[in-house]
Amino acid sequence: MENLVIEGGLPLHGEICVSGSKNAALPILMASILLNEPTTFTNVPDLRDIHTTLKLLNILGCACSFQDGRVDVQPAALQSEAPYDLVKTMRASVLCLGPLLARLGVARVAMPGGCAIGARPVNLHLSALEKMGAEFELEEGYINGRCKGLHGAHIQFDFPTVGGTENLLMAACLAEGETILENVAREPEVSDLAAFLIRCGADIEGQGSSVIRVRGVSSLHGCEYAVMPDRIEAGTFLIAAGITDGELLLKNCPYNDMDAVLNKLREAGMDIRLTDSGVLARRGTDGLRGVDVSTRPHPGFPTDMQAQIMALLCLADGSSMIDETIFENRFMHVQELVRMGADIRLSGSTAMVRGVERLTGAPVMASDLRASASLVLAGLAARGKTTVQRIYHLDRGYEHMECKLRAVGARIRRVPADA
Ligand code: EPZ
Repeated sequence: MENLVIEGGLPLHGEICVSGSKNAALPILMASILLNEPTTFTNVPDLRDIHTTLKLLNILGCACSFQDGRVDVQPAALQSEAPYDLVKTMRASVLCLGPLLARLGVARVAMPGGCAIGARPVNLHLSALEKMGAEFELEEGYINGRCKGLHGAHIQFDFPTVGGTENLLMAACLAEGETILENVAREPEVSDLAAFLIRCGADIEGQGSSVIRVRGVSSLHGCEYAVMPDRIEAGTFLIAAGITDGELLLKNCPYNDMDAVLNKLREAGMDIRLTDSGVLARRGTDGLRGVDVSTRPHPGFPTDMQAQIMALLCLADGSSMIDETIFENRFMHVQELVRMGADIRLSGSTAMVRGVERLTGAPVMASDLRASASLVLAGLAARGKTTVQRIYHLDRGYEHMECKLRAVGARIRRVPADA
């Protein structure tokens, strides 16, 4: 176990290069199960979840290698079981279900357990795949799926599930006939997956809208594909500029995929500009002010930015109401921020944040990926020393975060937990 130790209160200045998107790379790597030819991915971030995905692909028969952001996949004889020991460490492993059914007609995937932020069921994935001809049995903690070949269907999701959309998109590419997916997720990462699949020969229309149409093809070929930049990492670093009252220039920032975040940060008093050399972010001259935030499916404000903007609003002038509408338990960072002097009260799915003059450093505990990022941001702004414990959560989704922050002036270091 390791901790991050942060001496806060220093404005950050300089350039940060945004890495490839974790939430685009995970489904895109899983989609290599659909291919019967070698494929190369670039701009793949060096993250725990990426290495977990590569381990799973190797177990399933796709030989993978990772080198400096480049992943080469050599498909071989596929096998159909995703073991519990691996799936329990990363829920997104369930994204192999659709591709395995499409390629092999059989899949045995450990039920992805819940996690700190919620129960995270996969019922919408299963009921949609059943409409395409799959049959499932749940036994001994495993999802056992089989089909005599998937066929096209007209599917309406009860909720625009990101993973459910991605699983069905991948399954439909090799299904017999046409599939219409309605009320799908419109996240940019879904569109990036669709762009990769189209590059491999899939016949897909409508990605980014709420209806996607897929016409099945007999096979998909390999290609070389660069994963899109990570809009959540980018949003996190925009907030780092605002919360420390510094100025950061983000390179490779997916500006056009971030309207809801950019609009909300500007409403909260940040000055964010798109320049020829990147996205320039700093606190506006009038300082930070309280704003109301409600998380929504894309193009609304992303739930993956909720914990981070809460840290920023702890130091805003005035009050903010933050409503988490996507996950049932995504306020694990609140009590840790309160330990640092924040004034936050919870009522059901809403957090009422009252701005305070300053935060003070303290030992705090990370509980999930974005909560960890929130605590790092608060530590950067707090007076004194903050020790963020259990930062393996952070390593799941942020590539070398402390190195990037140190390069722009943060006093932050990784130490063994018992140091
Ligand atoms: C993806 O998770 C992301 N993960 C999450 O990012 C993100 O928070 C989430 O989408 C929402 O944007 C990846 O892309 C790897 P959902 P996913 O299916 O696919 C309920 C991060 O921090 N639901 O859209 O699991 C579910 O319980 C992670 O990077 C069902 O009820 O999200 C939740 O309340 C965290 N039944 C809501 O829908 C289902 O079958 C959204 O889930 C599926 C989902």
